[in-house]
Amino acid sequence: MKLFLDSANLDHVREIHAMGVLAGVTTNPSLIAKEGRDFIQTVYDIAELVQGPVSAEVVAQDREGMVREGRLLAKVHPHIVVKVPLTAAGLGATRVLADDGIPVNVTLCFQANQALLAALAGAAYISPFIGRVDDNSEDGNELIRTIVGVYDNDPNITTNVLAASIRHPQHVVQAALAGAHVATVPYDVFVKLAKHPMTDSGNKRFLEDWATVADKDITARVTAWLAAR
Ligand code: E4P
Repeated sequence: MKLFLDSANLDHVREIHAMGVLAGVTTNPSLIAKEGRDFIQTVYDIAELVQGPVSAEVVAQDREGMVREGRLLAKVHPHIVVKVPLTAAGLGATRVLADDGIPVNVTLCFQANQALLAALAGAAYISPFIGRVDDNSEDGNELIRTIVGVYDNDPNITTNVLAASIRHPQHVVQAALAGAHVATVPYDVFVKLAKHPMTDSGNKRFLEDWATVADKDITARVTAWLAAR
């Protein structure tokens, strides 16, 4: 399973990108609004940095408007993925944009039939919102598993299941086990993925023990050793 960052904050994208594990980024109108920057420049900068799929969402609600905005957004950077809401108009726009060769991420998916429709409309990604499903006393993880099962039963479906609305690290591992192709993870959860208190305490112990070694400067010691060979 690939990992995307769910953020429009360029500093956060830079920080997570430096971990060497980031395959893409998703944004949405709420995340863009929070940053207060020029949104096209933001999306361009993120795409330039990540060199992977970056979702940018349309805000028109009618099919023609979504197609118009989607075609324009796709011109901003070759890595832009146009995000459209899972409505009847959004499905129609997905078909038109997909036929243009523009990758589409169909967002705000809350049930498997919606996901089936998005795939049939030619979506490159479907975004089930597992956190919001859980908030509604349903099982977001089960939704991912069901969509993956539906897609696996049709060899013509190539749509990627993108687990979205991730709230905690367990959501990430659950999405991976359920067969999601991608999880888009908010910054605060992403930083937690690499952390464990025993990693920190183990590392501290190694450093304390290493402090007792005579030649403890690895760079100097290795350089001298290599020069003397
Ligand atoms: C997905 O692309 C959305 O941006 C996002 O995951 C929504 O998450 P939320 O439910 O935390 O707002």
